[in-house]
Amino acid sequence: MQLLRCVSLSKVDYLEEKIKLYSSKKVFYNTAMQLCRSVSSLAVGAIESELDIVDAFCASGIRGIRYAKENPNVGSITFVDIEPAAITLAKKNAKANDINATAVKGNISKVAFDLVADFLEIDPFGTPSPYLVDAFRFFNPKKVAYLSVTATDVAVLCGGKVSPCMKNYHSKPLNNEFTHEIGLRIMLKRIAEVASEFNMGITPLVSFSNKHYLKSVIKVTRGADLAFASLKKLGHISYDKKTGDRSFGQFPVPDQDYAGPLWLGELHDKSFIKKMRTLNSKRNYSDHEEIEQMLSLMESEVGMPPYYYNIHHICKLKHLAQLPDMKTIIERLRKKGYKAYRTHFSKVSIKSDAPYKAILEVF
Ligand SMILES: C[S@@+](CC[C@H](N)C(=O)[O-])C[C@H]1O[C@@H](n2cnc3c(N)ncnc32)[C@H](O)[C@@H]1O
Repeated sequence: MQLLRCVSLSKVDYLEEKIKLYSSKKVFYNTAMQLCRSVSSLAVGAIESELDIVDAFCASGIRGIRYAKENPNVGSITFVDIEPAAITLAKKNAKANDINATAVKGNISKVAFDLVADFLEIDPFGTPSPYLVDAFRFFNPKKVAYLSVTATDVAVLCGGKVSPCMKNYHSKPLNNEFTHEIGLRIMLKRIAEVASEFNMGITPLVSFSNKHYLKSVIKVTRGADLAFASLKKLGHISYDKKTGDRSFGQFPVPDQDYAGPLWLGELHDKSFIKKMRTLNSKRNYSDHEEIEQMLSLMESEVGMPPYYYNIHHICKLKHLAQLPDMKTIIERLRKKGYKAYRTHFSKVSIKSDAPYKAILEVF
């Protein structure tokens, strides 16, 4: 009897980084999201204030537990999930990792009125859209707070079908060679709109596209001026399918296809990403090299136009038989005095402030 108890206490189903995790057939847990959780945990650590965190779609509790275990600035963790099995499991997992957590079984739309958060995690199945209004209720009466949002409805945000994206995000998507940046910017636009209804402005601190999801951690700050300033950063990206040329502005270019409205502001805060990189270099995450690569690419995306150029797509448009290598293209653009960098969005794409004509010339 004694022995059996020891075995069952020491046996966990997963070890994610150093976190012991029990699982249940009734509760969602996806190992493919480990990198997303690691990047998010670095973001929590890079925020220089004490955070009361609500993990509002907690499932096994893995996010909240990792945030608390890996970051000394976490004051408290509250789990929320609509499923009783998730709440039971999150409590069990918190205990197994010596984390003191509060757990609330309920629909986020109900508990939003009773809980307050400095940092809120929104990680639902599919679109975060229906939960955004609820999310901002958690920030009352905070002046500054942080919203971490995941969207796994990439087929909607980055797809070619207008109606599902209009329905959920009130924006037109564009299924072209830089659709992943468009999708991320549509998601941020929706967040900026809801934030403004709550008199808050948004500052994306780190935003990325990976595998089947889009992710952003955003600072929200109360103020009517800030809310309006965020709305002024919304606009459209116009796209000429025949030539591959594109531009951005408040309104679409007449007679061209377009995406939007979408967020035209920055996707990341440079100094925040630097802090995350420093933290990452001190943590022994199993994905730490991939994370460092992603973060260094994101850092160079700051200050660049809101789209990227896919080398393969340009070669196809120009009927080029031989693919020039990325390094040469980047060097040639820089020699002409333009900025040019690789991007985290795609291994075969670059970001540049060069006009399209100059980009075509270096091919
Ligand atoms: C994608 S899983 C969360 C994954 C988890 N954050 C992780 O990193 O493993 C979504 C969770 O949200 C819960 N959920 C769905 N709708 C909800 C709602 N309206 N309010 C609260 N929880 C909800 C589900 O029961 C499920 O456990």
